[in-house]
Amino acid sequence: MHASVIEQPVGEIQADALVIGIHEETPLAGSAAEIDSLSGGQLTRLIESGEIKAGRDKVTSWLAPAGLETSHVVVVGLGDPATLDRGAAATAAGSAARLLAGQKRERVVFLLSADWDEELVSAAVSGAVTGCVGQDLYRAEIKLHPIEEIAWQTSHAAAVNQGLLLGEATNLTRRLVNEPAGFIYPESFAEVAAEVAGETGLELEIWDKQKLEEEKCGSLLAVSQGSDRDPRLLIVRHRGAGREKPHLALVGKGVTFDSGGLSLKPSESMKTMKCDMAGAATVLGTMQAIASLGLSCHVVGLVGLVENMVSGSSYKLGDVLTARSGKTIEVLNTDAEGRLVLADVLDVALEQEADHLVDLATLTGACVVALGTDVCGVMTNDQDWCDQLLAAAATCGERAWQLPMFPEFASQIRSNVADIKNIGEGRWGGAITAGKFLEEFVGEASWIHLDIAGPAFQDKPKAWIDAGGSGVMVQTLVQLAGQLAGGEG
Ligand code: BES
Ligand code: MN
Ligand code: ZN
Repeated sequence: MHASVIEQPVGEIQADALVIGIHEETPLAGSAAEIDSLSGGQLTRLIESGEIKAGRDKVTSWLAPAGLETSHVVVVGLGDPATLDRGAAATAAGSAARLLAGQKRERVVFLLSADWDEELVSAAVSGAVTGCVGQDLYRAEIKLHPIEEIAWQTSHAAAVNQGLLLGEATNLTRRLVNEPAGFIYPESFAEVAAEVAGETGLELEIWDKQKLEEEKCGSLLAVSQGSDRDPRLLIVRHRGAGREKPHLALVGKGVTFDSGGLSLKPSESMKTMKCDMAGAATVLGTMQAIASLGLSCHVVGLVGLVENMVSGSSYKLGDVLTARSGKTIEVLNTDAEGRLVLADVLDVALEQEADHLVDLATLTGACVVALGTDVCGVMTNDQDWCDQLLAAAATCGERAWQLPMFPEFASQIRSNVADIKNIGEGRWGGAITAGKFLEEFVGEASWIHLDIAGPAFQDKPKAWIDAGGSGVMVQTLVQLAGQLAGGEG
């Protein structure tokens, strides 16, 4: 995909379509006003009659009036000007791009308001880049045709480039999640990571099964032992600062398929479990963005890649595992596998001695019950650090909500035969007991756990993005990394 910047009179712009934004109950301004006057006031009349709507993310394709070098004008609603923020800019541009992607287009021009700052411009570009790419990877007739070239009428050229890089990184995460488990498994995920590293200059270390055994990753290995596919652990590094220790370590759950193991899932719950590596995909997408944007921070990403399968060698209920940290874990449900993988990856992450840790995982159905399909669950042992992440999420228009980590929840994972067990007592508060389990493996480090089971994979499309992998939290984590880098200087 290409993004360019233009500054041209509206009447001279050649394109398959022009995109303009309009606010509710606000006089037309800038390019919209120019196009309105070319049309002899027709745009105003269509808005007044309700034919064209200015509410957020409402999109109307309108035949271009005489005087324009384009066949269509797409009008997208921006809602109340007071609520225009990065999230609104991204969904509005995404909605227009998704509509336009219904057909093959070579060149589309977005006419942005001259009032928009760099943040809004970058968000709009990123939104358009994710909006026109869909999940129809294996269809002869694709529903969404990625727009080949988008030109942006704006003076913020650097922001356009940033938005493009952010959108492309988000699309990497989405694509990895959307690929079926027959294509993305631990080894092939590692190959993609190697390509990304080659293109962006990220450092990459790959641990294979033998290394994982040497490193005594007994908890991660147990989950993978029922599969014909060998596990991997990846360590990806962006050294954008002249300091030895990372500002930030990102840890991702990469269960490339979760059958549930011997605690087998019913088909209905299993059918989307190719998405169970979304945490790992988010870490890789975020690392790609951080590297391609050249952020001046030192960030390390660690992902644990396994397949949770059923066979004669599957791990069993009642098994006691010894995690890399030395803690013993009683397995009472082989479907609570994500926390077992993360237990060992978090232990490896601790050795990086990063200032802060964030892990991401499609960890519990309970979190989806608690918060729905659009909100990330947030758990922490460091409120100040958590507040920074929540602020970054709000800035990016991503939904995140904190859950309590009261000590009472920890007593639920005490075991009679081992140090801890891998499920709580009953299903209530399941997102939190999972968070408490992970907390056992982070020592004194400043840590946040993001349960992305709800938002990472969507059953239905939204106006601004196709269904499937959403790329949730890539933007927030890049924002956070940018802030850590800024804090140095
Ligand atoms: N990968 C699932 C969680 C999940 C559910 C992700 C829905 C995305 C959408 C996880 O490994 C799992 O199976 N969790 C169990 C935990 C339980 C056995 C304690 C669950 O949520 O049922
Ligand atoms: Mn599971
Ligand atoms: Zn899982």
